[in-house]
Amino acid sequence: MAEGASVGRRVEELTTPAFLVDLAKVKTNCANMLATCKTIGVSLRAQTKTHKTIECAVLQTGESKSGLVTSTLEEAEFYARHGFDDILYGYPLIPHHMPRVIALTRQLKKFHVMVDSQLAVDTLKDTPTPGKPWSVFLKVDCGNKRAGVWWEDEAGVDMALQLHNAPNITFVGVYVHCGNTYGASEPKEVLQIQEDTLERLLKFVDRLKQRGVTCTTVGTGSTPSCRQPSDNMKNLTEIHPGNYTFLDVQQWSLGSCSQEDIACCVATRVIGHYPHRNQMLIDCGFVGLTKQGYGHMDTGYGVFRGHPNLKLCAMTQDIGFVEPLEGQLDYEQYPIGSLLYILPWHSCATAALYPVYHVVEGDTVLAEWRPTRGW
Ligand SMILES: Cc1ncc(COP(=O)(O)O)c(C=O)c1O
Repeated sequence: MAEGASVGRRVEELTTPAFLVDLAKVKTNCANMLATCKTIGVSLRAQTKTHKTIECAVLQTGESKSGLVTSTLEEAEFYARHGFDDILYGYPLIPHHMPRVIALTRQLKKFHVMVDSQLAVDTLKDTPTPGKPWSVFLKVDCGNKRAGVWWEDEAGVDMALQLHNAPNITFVGVYVHCGNTYGASEPKEVLQIQEDTLERLLKFVDRLKQRGVTCTTVGTGSTPSCRQPSDNMKNLTEIHPGNYTFLDVQQWSLGSCSQEDIACCVATRVIGHYPHRNQMLIDCGFVGLTKQGYGHMDTGYGVFRGHPNLKLCAMTQDIGFVEPLEGQLDYEQYPIGSLLYILPWHSCATAALYPVYHVVEGDTVLAEWRPTRGW
């Protein structure tokens, strides 16, 4: 379909598989996170990686268009081009990034980078600034075991001191991503991981304070922790979740939301009946849905909205294999050509497969959102 051609049409008219976004639910999810921040007394630095669209970032920022964290330079440039400011490129800085970092620093009132290596600190110290100091966050690992200086190591304190003392750098503070909440086996484990992360982070900030380094910004927060905020979060200055915009089955399984809160789904059609093996096929394969992410579920690679007995048990590129969890498939309920809706296990990874999102109210397409892609 040509750009904009689906607007005003019914979902039944769309080519499948199609990625649908329920506008009312996204609006509610975004408003709820802003309300949570207000209650705790922190700001929201909204992660944009789940959707990578202008429209959803406007909702995330309550229309201020200020206060984002991106996972790619491409996103940072996309938002900068569209009038957003106060953007953190929330990814470990390497020297190769510098030409684009220079351009963004020049372009925006506030553009921040994130470092977790001595090489990055040296690169910033040694690169002449484009008229204003580099604005820098130190990424700290408080248990996630991905990027970041390990919270107990002296190397992190030393890097913060160097950033603080460098004449061409403004040291903003510390950034922690508690992505290990996704490894929780039950909701109360999310709370425990969140508490442990906060405790470690605050200890690290305290050690910096003892060395005369003040953090104006102290932030953490994944969607699982921010959808179940704890009292201790009031010791932060900002949180930076992103998946809360769309949510997904993974979040539902972690206790972050109800199934009704999930704001996106994949529309797919039945393409064949195979009673001899108690299966049917759908037109959504692994280029239309992904089960990337932690954990597993009985219903396979997704949850069929309104059909809890269906299991998406396998996928090839453009075909999904569906069977019942129990009993025989009732083929009359699923005629060839009929539509089904799959709630994805991981919405970020599923959205990333689609060049256009159909934004719906009921079964009417209200708008098309076009995400940025690439790095
Ligand atoms: C560095 C960083 N910050 C923030 C987030 C947002 O976390 P979530 O997707 O749980 O909302 C992510 C997500 O992966 C991330 O990688």
